[in-house]
Amino acid sequence: MKILALVGSPRLGGNTDFLVDQALKEAAKLGAQIEKVVLSQYSVAPCLGHDDCGSFESCIQKDDMSWILNKFCEADGIILATPVYYYSVTAQMKAFMDRNYFLYMHNRKSRAKAVGIIVVAESEGIDDTVHNLKRYINGSSFTVQKDQIFELRGYAYQLGEVRKNQRLINQAKDFGRKIVESLEGIS
Ligand SMILES: Cc1cc2nc3c(=O)[nH]c(=O)nc-3n(C[C@H](O)[C@H](O)[C@H](O)COP(=O)(O)O)c2cc1C
Repeated sequence: MKILALVGSPRLGGNTDFLVDQALKEAAKLGAQIEKVVLSQYSVAPCLGHDDCGSFESCIQKDDMSWILNKFCEADGIILATPVYYYSVTAQMKAFMDRNYFLYMHNRKSRAKAVGIIVVAESEGIDDTVHNLKRYINGSSFTVQKDQIFELRGYAYQLGEVRKNQRLINQAKDFGRKIVESLEGIS
Protein backbone atom coordinates (compact mmCIF):
# COMPACT_ATOMS: atom_id res chain seq x y z
CA MET A 1 0.00 0.00 0.00
CA LYS A 2 1.55 3.27 -1.17
CA ILE A 3 0.65 6.57 0.49
CA LEU A 4 1.91 9.77 -1.10
CA ALA A 5 1.75 13.11 0.72
CA LEU A 6 1.92 16.35 -1.25
CA VAL A 7 2.93 19.27 0.94
CA GLY A 8 1.95 22.77 -0.16
CA SER A 9 3.76 24.71 2.55
CA PRO A 10 7.04 26.34 1.57
CA ARG A 11 8.18 26.11 5.23
CA LEU A 12 10.25 22.97 5.71
CA GLY A 13 9.70 21.66 9.21
CA GLY A 14 6.72 24.00 9.53
CA ASN A 15 3.34 23.17 10.99
CA THR A 16 1.86 21.44 7.96
CA ASP A 17 5.05 19.53 7.20
CA PHE A 18 5.34 18.36 10.81
CA LEU A 19 1.74 17.10 10.92
CA VAL A 20 2.25 15.29 7.62
CA ASP A 21 5.31 13.56 9.12
CA GLN A 22 3.28 12.42 12.15
CA ALA A 23 0.55 10.99 9.92
CA LEU A 24 3.04 9.29 7.59
CA LYS A 25 5.07 7.79 10.43
CA GLU A 26 1.92 6.26 11.86
CA ALA A 27 0.94 4.92 8.43
CA ALA A 28 4.45 3.43 8.02
CA LYS A 29 4.18 1.74 11.43
CA LEU A 30 1.05 0.05 10.15
CA GLY A 31 2.88 -1.22 7.08
CA ALA A 32 2.26 1.46 4.46
CA GLN A 33 4.95 2.46 2.00
CA ILE A 34 5.14 6.23 2.45
CA GLU A 35 6.48 9.10 0.40
CA LYS A 36 6.38 12.87 0.84
CA VAL A 37 6.79 15.41 -1.92
CA VAL A 38 7.25 18.99 -0.74
CA LEU A 39 6.07 20.92 -3.78
CA SER A 40 8.22 24.00 -3.08
CA GLN A 41 11.33 21.84 -3.43
CA TYR A 42 10.53 21.21 -7.08
CA SER A 43 9.61 23.15 -10.14
CA VAL A 44 5.82 23.11 -10.54
CA ALA A 45 4.84 25.97 -12.80
CA PRO A 46 1.27 27.26 -13.00
CA CYS A 47 -0.96 25.87 -15.78
CA LEU A 48 -0.66 27.88 -19.02
CA GLY A 49 -4.29 27.25 -19.96
CA HIS A 50 -3.64 26.79 -23.67
CA ASP A 51 -6.31 24.82 -25.53
CA ASP A 52 -4.11 22.04 -26.91
CA CYS A 53 -3.40 20.12 -23.70
CA GLY A 54 -5.25 17.01 -24.89
CA SER A 55 -3.34 16.78 -28.15
CA PHE A 56 0.12 16.63 -26.52
CA GLU A 57 1.51 13.35 -25.23
CA SER A 58 3.18 15.15 -22.36
CA CYS A 59 2.68 18.59 -20.88
CA ILE A 60 4.62 21.21 -22.82
CA GLN A 61 6.01 22.57 -19.54
CA LYS A 62 9.16 20.56 -18.87
CA ASP A 63 9.26 20.82 -15.12
CA ASP A 64 8.84 18.30 -12.28
CA MET A 65 5.10 17.91 -12.66
CA SER A 66 5.17 14.92 -14.99
CA TRP A 67 6.89 12.57 -12.49
CA ILE A 68 4.85 14.02 -9.63
CA LEU A 69 1.64 13.26 -11.55
CA ASN A 70 2.84 9.72 -12.27
CA LYS A 71 3.41 9.11 -8.56
CA PHE A 72 0.06 10.72 -7.82
CA CYS A 73 -1.71 8.35 -10.22
CA GLU A 74 0.01 5.27 -8.80
CA ALA A 75 -0.52 5.88 -5.08
CA ASP A 76 -3.23 4.00 -3.17
CA GLY A 77 -3.67 6.87 -0.75
CA ILE A 78 -3.00 10.59 -1.17
CA ILE A 79 -2.52 13.25 1.49
CA LEU A 80 -2.97 16.86 0.37
CA ALA A 81 -1.54 19.20 2.98
CA THR A 82 -1.48 22.98 2.94
CA PRO A 83 -1.48 25.94 5.26
CA VAL A 84 -4.15 28.56 4.66
CA TYR A 85 -2.86 31.49 2.65
CA TYR A 86 -5.52 34.18 2.23
CA TYR A 87 -8.44 31.81 2.87
CA SER A 88 -7.27 29.19 0.40
CA VAL A 89 -4.47 26.78 -0.48
CA THR A 90 -0.93 28.04 -1.09
CA ALA A 91 0.26 28.94 -4.58
CA GLN A 92 2.31 25.73 -4.66
CA MET A 93 -0.75 23.57 -3.98
CA LYS A 94 -2.90 25.57 -6.42
CA ALA A 95 -0.31 25.11 -9.18
CA PHE A 96 -0.36 21.36 -8.50
CA MET A 97 -4.17 21.28 -8.62
CA ASP A 98 -4.35 23.29 -11.85
CA ARG A 99 -1.77 21.08 -13.53
CA ASN A 100 -4.15 18.14 -12.92
CA TYR A 101 -5.93 19.51 -15.98
CA PHE A 102 -3.47 17.44 -18.02
CA LEU A 103 -4.87 14.27 -16.40
CA TYR A 104 -8.41 15.42 -17.12
CA MET A 105 -7.61 16.05 -20.78
CA HIS A 106 -6.06 12.57 -21.05
CA ASN A 107 -8.76 10.68 -19.11
CA ARG A 108 -6.33 9.78 -16.37
CA LYS A 109 -7.06 9.64 -12.66
CA SER A 110 -5.30 8.79 -9.46
CA ARG A 111 -5.96 5.19 -8.43
CA ALA A 112 -6.12 6.40 -4.81
CA LYS A 113 -9.02 5.02 -2.81
CA ALA A 114 -8.45 7.20 0.24
CA VAL A 115 -7.59 10.88 0.37
CA GLY A 116 -6.54 12.87 3.42
CA ILE A 117 -6.61 16.64 3.72
CA ILE A 118 -4.44 18.52 6.23
CA VAL A 119 -5.12 22.24 6.58
CA VAL A 120 -3.39 24.56 9.06
CA ALA A 121 -4.18 28.22 9.72
CA GLU A 122 -3.47 30.87 12.28
CA SER A 123 -7.14 31.70 12.78
CA GLU A 124 -9.36 31.95 9.70
CA GLY A 125 -10.02 30.28 6.37
CA ILE A 126 -9.87 26.57 7.17
CA ASP A 127 -13.49 25.94 6.11
CA ASP A 128 -12.96 27.73 2.78
CA THR A 129 -9.73 25.86 2.14
CA VAL A 130 -11.18 22.44 3.00
CA HIS A 131 -14.15 23.26 0.78
CA ASN A 132 -11.84 24.13 -2.15
CA LEU A 133 -9.80 20.96 -1.68
CA LYS A 134 -12.94 18.83 -1.52
CA ARG A 135 -14.29 20.40 -4.69
CA TYR A 136 -11.02 19.47 -6.35
CA ILE A 137 -11.07 15.92 -4.92
CA ASN A 138 -14.65 15.42 -6.10
CA GLY A 139 -13.66 16.65 -9.55
CA SER A 140 -11.93 14.69 -12.27
CA SER A 141 -8.70 13.47 -10.66
CA PHE A 142 -10.12 10.90 -8.24
CA THR A 143 -12.83 8.31 -7.81
CA VAL A 144 -13.12 8.25 -4.03
CA GLN A 145 -16.22 7.79 -1.93
CA LYS A 146 -17.15 10.50 0.58
CA ASP A 147 -16.33 8.24 3.53
CA GLN A 148 -12.81 7.73 2.18
CA ILE A 149 -11.96 11.41 2.50
CA PHE A 150 -10.32 12.29 5.83
CA GLU A 151 -9.66 15.70 7.32
CA LEU A 152 -7.21 17.13 9.81
CA ARG A 153 -7.58 20.79 10.76
CA GLY A 154 -5.08 22.59 12.97
CA TYR A 155 -4.55 26.07 14.33
CA ALA A 156 -0.97 27.33 14.55
CA TYR A 157 0.97 30.36 13.44
CA GLN A 158 4.70 30.37 14.10
CA LEU A 159 7.13 27.91 12.58
CA GLY A 160 6.85 24.61 14.39
CA GLU A 161 4.16 25.80 16.82
CA VAL A 162 2.23 22.54 16.36
CA ARG A 163 5.08 20.61 17.99
CA LYS A 164 3.76 21.84 21.36
CA ASN A 165 0.20 20.73 20.60
CA GLN A 166 0.05 17.12 21.74
CA ARG A 167 -3.67 16.88 21.02
CA LEU A 168 -3.12 17.81 17.39
CA ILE A 169 -0.16 15.45 17.13
CA ASN A 170 -2.39 12.62 18.36
CA GLN A 171 -5.05 13.66 15.85
CA ALA A 172 -2.43 13.53 13.08
CA LYS A 173 -1.49 9.99 14.08
CA ASP A 174 -5.18 8.98 14.14
CA PHE A 175 -5.60 10.56 10.72
CA GLY A 176 -2.70 8.47 9.35
CA ARG A 177 -4.12 5.33 10.93
CA LYS A 178 -7.62 5.96 9.52
CA ILE A 179 -6.24 6.28 5.99
CA VAL A 180 -4.42 2.95 6.29
CA GLU A 181 -7.46 1.24 7.82
CA SER A 182 -9.68 2.62 5.09
CA LEU A 183 -7.34 1.25 2.41
CA GLU A 184 -7.13 -2.13 4.19
CA GLY A 185 -10.92 -2.24 4.27
CA ILE A 186 -11.03 -1.83 0.49
CA SER A 187 -8.33 -4.32 -0.55
C1 LIG B 1 1.04 34.64 2.78
C2 LIG B 1 0.36 34.13 4.01
C3 LIG B 1 -1.03 34.18 4.08
C4 LIG B 1 -1.69 33.69 5.21
N1 LIG B 1 -3.06 33.74 5.24
C5 LIG B 1 -3.71 33.26 6.33
C6 LIG B 1 -5.13 33.28 6.39
O1 LIG B 1 -5.84 33.67 5.46
N2 LIG B 1 -5.72 32.81 7.53
C7 LIG B 1 -5.00 32.36 8.60
O2 LIG B 1 -5.60 31.98 9.59
N3 LIG B 1 -3.64 32.28 8.54
C8 LIG B 1 -2.99 32.72 7.45
N4 LIG B 1 -1.61 32.65 7.39
C9 LIG B 1 -0.89 31.99 8.50
C10 LIG B 1 -0.50 30.54 8.17
O3 LIG B 1 -1.61 29.79 7.73
C11 LIG B 1 0.08 29.88 9.43
O4 LIG B 1 1.23 30.58 9.85
C12 LIG B 1 0.40 28.42 9.26
O5 LIG B 1 0.73 27.86 10.51
C13 LIG B 1 1.59 28.20 8.31
O6 LIG B 1 1.79 26.82 8.18
P1 LIG B 1 3.22 26.21 7.82
O7 LIG B 1 4.09 26.34 9.06
O8 LIG B 1 2.94 24.79 7.50
O9 LIG B 1 3.75 26.95 6.66
C14 LIG B 1 -0.94 33.14 6.29
C15 LIG B 1 0.46 33.10 6.22
C16 LIG B 1 1.11 33.60 5.09
C17 LIG B 1 2.62 33.53 5.02
